[in-house]
Amino acid sequence: MTNNLTVIVLAAGGGTRMRSKTPKVLHPVCGRSMLGHVLHAVRATEPRRVVAVVGHQRELVAPHVHEHVPDAVLAVQEDQLGTGHAVRVAVEAAGGLDGGTVLVAYGDTPLLEGGSLRAFVAEHEAAERAVSILSGIVPTPFGYGRVVRDADGDVVAIVEEKDATPDQRDIREINSGILAFDAGFLAEALPRIGNDNAKGEYYLTDTVQLARDAGLTVGAHPLDDVLQTEGANDRAQLAELGREMNRRIVTRWMRAGVTVMDPATTWLDADVELAQDVTILPGTQLLGATVVGEDAVVGPDTTLEDCEVGAGARVVRTHGQLAVVGPDATVGPFAYLRPGTRLGAGGKIGTFVETKNADIEAGAKVPHLSYVGDATIGEGTNIGAGTIFANYDGVAKHRTTIGRHARTGSNNTFVAPVTIGDGAGTGAGTVVRRDVPAGALAVSAGPQRDLEGWTLRKRPGTAQAAAAEAATGAAGDTAHTEHGADVDGVGGCSSGGAES
Ligand code: UD1
Ligand code: CA
Repeated sequence: MTNNLTVIVLAAGGGTRMRSKTPKVLHPVCGRSMLGHVLHAVRATEPRRVVAVVGHQRELVAPHVHEHVPDAVLAVQEDQLGTGHAVRVAVEAAGGLDGGTVLVAYGDTPLLEGGSLRAFVAEHEAAERAVSILSGIVPTPFGYGRVVRDADGDVVAIVEEKDATPDQRDIREINSGILAFDAGFLAEALPRIGNDNAKGEYYLTDTVQLARDAGLTVGAHPLDDVLQTEGANDRAQLAELGREMNRRIVTRWMRAGVTVMDPATTWLDADVELAQDVTILPGTQLLGATVVGEDAVVGPDTTLEDCEVGAGARVVRTHGQLAVVGPDATVGPFAYLRPGTRLGAGGKIGTFVETKNADIEAGAKVPHLSYVGDATIGEGTNIGAGTIFANYDGVAKHRTTIGRHARTGSNNTFVAPVTIGDGAGTGAGTVVRRDVPAGALAVSAGPQRDLEGWTLRKRPGTAQAAAAEAATGAAGDTAHTEHGADVDGVGGCSSGGAES
């Protein structure tokens, strides 16, 4: 393949059928914009330069182009006068063409693969053609430009839907929109494209006829996988292409040694990385730059965005974002991992636990019903059920630091900033407001007082009173026993009015 390849990506159109404030080419498919997918494929051709034609909402599209191809040339097309005009604007913005090959692609074909572009350019160059058409054979060619061949099968023209004769409309070989040109030919042909056609547009496809008239070679190569060049014009098509891309991504990972129990309910973004022998259970979405290590099991019903899951970890019914789960750690069911969560090797974030900016070190456990915000929990420490890390004083966030191998009681509140030393403990219901020294047991709840006979005095006639009476043998206030007739316990509680 040439080392002088210019790729022109057309992305100036409005995409009105998306009915969106987001430009069409920026709508995402599997975690990457449609334009991002195209530019990804384009990069695989190792072009000398990339020119992107932008127009509608270029203040959003142009920076996005540069995110993917930092040195791309931007060509601004104020009015969309047709694909031929768009390419002319691109060539002008690039300061002309200096030989080599020019490849034209559209910004809204997310399934396009770099390998297909490479093969197409290589074939175009080997055949020494003026123009090559990446075509496709489709069952319903309506709306596409048709590839017209002569009796010998040689390509003579591309005719647009609106300009086609009834016979030509029956042709099922269509122009995908991806064309390759000899740069010298293209430079001469562009100024000669007119707009005397049904749409009054400058058609890039007119170059085919111009090449033929000049006695130059033209060829079309059908791409078997036609979906690669399919564009999305509305959100229904966007969803179709998204489902197809997901199917392809999931299939690729299964072939690479990942077990996916239910491909139809598993959604994997394009940039996700999975190791061998990962298992993904139904209803799982792995998004963004999520990475999962060997033998880890994720799901069911889990969404992880930009997360890292270590080898052998288990993540069940969890929602996570920008979190790291260490090797052999366990998470969930019903955990919410917010950004900055780091769970060490063999650690545990259990059921109904929310974490944020939390370093939970190797072997440390937060098993039940807790909020852990802005915290460090040392190696091997166990946090009691129902613990709240009170990190916010209404003005600023503060950090709680708990040492190694500590044991904190159930229903604790850590009022940050506070530090609990290595090997320390806390009693149930402790509200920790001051630092706890290493090895100490902190207890903040007052001593327990028992008001003997309280139930029979204050809740006479209830099931509770009946139970107390039966257990203690104490005499109740018989004046109130009419309320106590209900002995099944449930009715007694709800009807006696004693709860208020
Ligand atoms: C075009 C082709 C047609 C092909 C079809 C494949 C021409 C004349 N027709 O038709 O043969 O079968 O694509 O989808 O080339 N664009 C610009 N500036 C413009 C015009 C278009 O940037 O002035 C961009 C659009 O944003 C879009 C792409 O070029 O991404 C194609 O334009 P569109 O108007 O959709 O062309 P079609 O009529 O579909
Ligand atoms: Ca189109």
